[in-house]
Amino acid sequence: MNYLKHLAIIMDGNGRWAERQNKKRSSGHEEGANNVRTITQYCAKIGVEYLTLYAFSTENWKRPKTEVEFLMKLLTKFLKKELIVLKENNIRFEVIGDISKFSNSLQKAILHLKKETVQCSGMTQILAINYGSRDEITRAVNKAIKTGVTVSEEDISQLLDTSNFPDIDLLIRTGGDQRLSNFLLWQSAYAELFFTSTLWPDFSTGELETILSKYKTTSRRFGAL
Ligand code: IPE
Ligand code: IPE
Ligand code: MG
Repeated sequence: MNYLKHLAIIMDGNGRWAERQNKKRSSGHEEGANNVRTITQYCAKIGVEYLTLYAFSTENWKRPKTEVEFLMKLLTKFLKKELIVLKENNIRFEVIGDISKFSNSLQKAILHLKKETVQCSGMTQILAINYGSRDEITRAVNKAIKTGVTVSEEDISQLLDTSNFPDIDLLIRTGGDQRLSNFLLWQSAYAELFFTSTLWPDFSTGELETILSKYKTTSRRFGAL
């Protein structure tokens, strides 16, 4: 039986979820944010140690200005509401991605939530925001160049945003597309991949449970026999 230490989810399909109901894309994002809470609490309850959620990619800035602005507001609102939920569930909050591109108030809200939950000893919830694997690796390489010494695989892992977290065991993408969209390329080298056509706002704890039971019995060989 495989143990699940680190679960990563590409939460895709909010826009299509809304469009299918003749609603604005923004209402899909709102519903998606509500589902983050549901899935996070469930993962904490079943003993997942790290949960990384892809919420905004380095490429998502290419969307219409109105959508980007809406997502930034939603993120700020979400972070403010989250403190009580995280504390109640003993969940520590962390972030990966280049947050220096966000407004000062959003950066403050992120750092505040991290600080307020630093003592929580249950699951760690890691939000990937303004995150792109290539950007992360490029920043890591530039840090390495500054040190002036050659680097090992272990050194590179230590220079990434995920230095304090283990590699991904299981990666789930909702929304029907079978691609990684620049998410955790290094860290998912031996992750088990699951793709579901369910749109993120509809992704339920029941479906997650089904995926987890398949994951548990998969033979993970890591190149060995
Ligand atoms: C994922 O849902 C959330 C973000 C990328 C912010 P989308 O907004 O990509 O929804 P679809 O893929 O257009 O349906
Ligand atoms: C991936 O979804 C990013 C997030 C879920 C945050 P996208 O909707 O941005 O990915 P593509 O453009 O379909 O590859
Ligand atoms: Mg999408």
